[in-house]
Amino acid sequence: LHLSIRRQRQMCIRDRILSEKKNGILTITINRPEKKNALTREMYQSMADALFSIENDDSIKTVLFRGEGDCFTSGNDISDFAGRKEGDDVNESAAFMRGLINCKVPVVAQVHGMAVGIGTTMLLHCDFIYAETNTRFVLPFINLGLVPEFASSYLLPKMAGHVKASEWLMLGEPFGTEDACQFGLITGSYSAEELTEKVTSVCKKLVAKPSFALMQTKSLLKNDVESTHHYMDIEFDVFGQAMDSEAAREAFDAFLSKRPINPEKFK
Ligand code: COA
Repeated sequence: LHLSIRRQRQMCIRDRILSEKKNGILTITINRPEKKNALTREMYQSMADALFSIENDDSIKTVLFRGEGDCFTSGNDISDFAGRKEGDDVNESAAFMRGLINCKVPVVAQVHGMAVGIGTTMLLHCDFIYAETNTRFVLPFINLGLVPEFASSYLLPKMAGHVKASEWLMLGEPFGTEDACQFGLITGSYSAEELTEKVTSVCKKLVAKPSFALMQTKSLLKNDVESTHHYMDIEFDVFGQAMDSEAAREAFDAFLSKRPINPEKFK
């Protein structure tokens, strides 16, 4: 009985990330729509495992990320954040981040609804990002007492300029596809009807390219990987400190209790 309950739980967790290899494409689907695709530690690990599984698999030439339900992802699961004990590691999200940064083949993201927190920062490590026209992006770290992650404090200013990066990271307000396109976060925006068609056609085109040239082109374009890892590690340290702050604990509790933040505890 014990075993079967454990297995059921594992299966349930695994199902929150669906990964499918077909026609040269690894599709990773975030599948927890009832929680707006919030990402738990187990889900990060499943995504990391899926990425590691193609390291030596020459048949896969493209990775596609998408979300089930009405949004891409609402970012890290805040219950997971709140349940973290001082000094706890972040091995699963780190494994996912490293897996994505080191991914040899092109990564396509199909984004819709909301892309919150890591839902936006992970896009900085994708190669083709197509979003539904009304998608909202947000980097809410500051409003949770947290700091940037996934090398976003390094990559965003390079991509969008210091001024825009400051606005996105220090105000933490949502922005739309127009801004995202103008400042280089996404490749393009499409209506809901056109989006899947566009993504499918780009994935097919990528799969038809010669493997060596495709992977080398990606590698040459991503010539800054060492610095990216370096800044990500620096951010991890500060992120850990921020997680232990009173402001962060207050923000997590307020969200989970569905109450406003108490400004006295959010300093
Ligand atoms: N972590 C944990 N639970 C989350 C979550 C998250 N990041 N995002 C959403 N949920 C849960 C909600 O608590 C709610 O659970 P319930 O049905 O048990 O009450 C459910 O998912 C639906 O979310 P809800 O807030 O009702 O949907 P909405 O459409 O009104 O708002 C968001 C969607 C994404 C704007 C809102 O949920 C949100 O702000 N989430 C937190 C985002 C965030 O700060 N992420 C951390 C980034 S570092």
